Amino acid sequence: MRELSLNVLDIAQNSIAANATCITLWVTESVSQNRLILGIEDNGRGMTEEQLQRVRDPFFTTRTTRRVGMGIPLFRMAAEMAGGSLTIDSTLGKGTVVTAAFLLDHIDRPPLGDMVGTVSALIRLNPQLDFVYRHQTDSGSFEADTRSFREILGEVPLNEPDIVQWIEGYLTENVQALNSQA
Ligand SMILES: Nc1ncnc2c1ncn2[C@@H]1O[C@H](COP(=O)(O)OP(=O)(O)OP(=O)(O)O)[C@@H](O)[C@H]1O
Ligand SMILES: [Mg+2]
Repeated sequence: MRELSLNVLDIAQNSIAANATCITLWVTESVSQNRLILGIEDNGRGMTEEQLQRVRDPFFTTRTTRRVGMGIPLFRMAAEMAGGSLTIDSTLGKGTVVTAAFLLDHIDRPPLGDMVGTVSALIRLNPQLDFVYRHQTDSGSFEADTRSFREILGEVPLNEPDIVQWIEGYLTENVQALNSQA
């Protein structure tokens, strides 16, 4: 995966598979601290200590009957190759938080890519779930929450084409505004 937004999309699929009803995604980009942090938090089923240990170290188990997932290892590798790291916190029955940190100026840091595209796709494909998107830079922050969109929309589903387009435009405008204030 050459763009980190695609890793985020992939990690969010884990949250959906874990029956989350609300997924929070965030990007913290700080030139002054030379850091890029990406986070995915969900209220899904969470993991047991044993599952968590296996996910943190996919070679922890020698069993070969089941395929080893690659979503988390690939994201971890991307972070570690860019002077950063990946952390997973999970509580059974409560949810999971995955955070990846990168050195912003590291030569091997993949580009962030189209985060608005990732968030819009998640909303469009999972209109029954709630998403929060937080984007922070040195110049300020922006947050969007599908629950406040729903308040305005009433019964209109979030995957209605006009609504999808509006959400995409709204996110694009606000993220651009943040980046142009730098
Ligand atoms: N948010 C989450 N909530 C609960 N369990 C999770 C979560 N994220 C990962 N897991 C557990 O960790 C395993 C490994 O995740 P990973 O994304 O690395 O691989 P995968 O989803 O199994 O396969 P792939 O991503 O390659 O399709 C998952 O199968 C799941 O059991
Ligand atoms: Mg996965």
